Amino acid sequence: MSGRPFLSIPGPTLVPERITRAMAQPIIDHRGPKFGALVKECLAGLARVFRADRGHIVLYPGSGTGAWEAAIVNTLSPGDRVLAVINGHFSTGFAKTAGAYGIDVERIDVPYGAGVPVADVEARLAADTAHELRAVLVVHNETSTGVTSNVSGVREALDRTRHPALLLVDTVSSLASIEFRHDDWRVDVTLTGPQKGLMLPPGMAILAISDKALAASEKAKCPRSFWDWQPVLERNKRGEFPYTPATLLLFGLREALAMLEEEGLDHVFARHARLAEACRRAVRALDLEILCRNPAEYSNTLTAVVMPPGFDSGALVRHAYDTLNFSLGVGLGAVKGKVFRIGHLGSLNELELLGALAGVEMMLKDFGVPIRLGAGLAAAQEYLLG
Ligand SMILES: Cc1ncc(COP(=O)(O)O)c(C=O)c1O
Repeated sequence: MSGRPFLSIPGPTLVPERITRAMAQPIIDHRGPKFGALVKECLAGLARVFRADRGHIVLYPGSGTGAWEAAIVNTLSPGDRVLAVINGHFSTGFAKTAGAYGIDVERIDVPYGAGVPVADVEARLAADTAHELRAVLVVHNETSTGVTSNVSGVREALDRTRHPALLLVDTVSSLASIEFRHDDWRVDVTLTGPQKGLMLPPGMAILAISDKALAASEKAKCPRSFWDWQPVLERNKRGEFPYTPATLLLFGLREALAMLEEEGLDHVFARHARLAEACRRAVRALDLEILCRNPAEYSNTLTAVVMPPGFDSGALVRHAYDTLNFSLGVGLGAVKGKVFRIGHLGSLNELELLGALAGVEMMLKDFGVPIRLGAGLAAAQEYLLG
């Protein structure tokens, strides 16, 4: 196949050439003098992206799944009770990680396509007068459904009920794409990965931590060794790590942070919002349904599209891959086979989005879904021109 593989999954995203070039370096000594400066630059830049001036940043080789584990084991003890809002495949995974450590997970389940029900969270917190709930677990942007939840609303619910629970938030598919404020929303642990808004290849687990979470880690009894953040924080002060870090990814990270700062985070968010709106208009113009129910919760990093009855989204995704070297996101968890996902995040521009929408139309048509070729594209083009 000529050309590049066309990656329209909601992460990992295509890595800009500028970042690839920055990573094309000889391997350097991670205990040598040059490395410390690189680490410090990366940590300072990440703090700006998390909007965590008061927070502490921790980086591990790993992935988002590892970041869940790091958030849990450093702040909680087996037998602790937590409240987890489950609204998709990834919030299920976050809660399961807690369960695996013997944490008593109380769930608030909502259907796939819905966001965190802040009023229900608040009611549960208000009822917990003994403050048995040690933490609230939420996913800011549920990547399996294309729903962005109101994290500041959860913060306000904690404040209104004067509840001391920690707030642990997954921003794997939102950080650096959708507004997020670690300090202002007083999030205790914000966790993410590098392969989505940060435009890097996969391979890291990244966390921002509040002072309250740091204090909690002194009492937390979950077993931990690799994920223990204390030695990482200690050694990071000197620009070092207690293990061999993903050195090349850090060169890439420094470049990615520079690119985000050049564009300006607010512009990055506005670009994502604009491309997402163009995508949603295209989906509607094709008479297809968006899984996210509440427009206030539409995700600006991906759109989950409901397949018309009688069609299997997994087979469509496979067909796109086989025919056009074009990758769309499959349906995950409860919507396996029922939705496909169009990723529109990271280093993406209008023509790339339009290319993806053209591919979606071609594949739907080829697959026998009754759509009019060009209808979605025209809706997106008109919006982008307007
Ligand atoms: C919201 C969310 N959380 C966690 C993860 C897991 O991250 P990883 O696949 O990097 O382990 C993902 C992966 O897509 C995700 O989208």
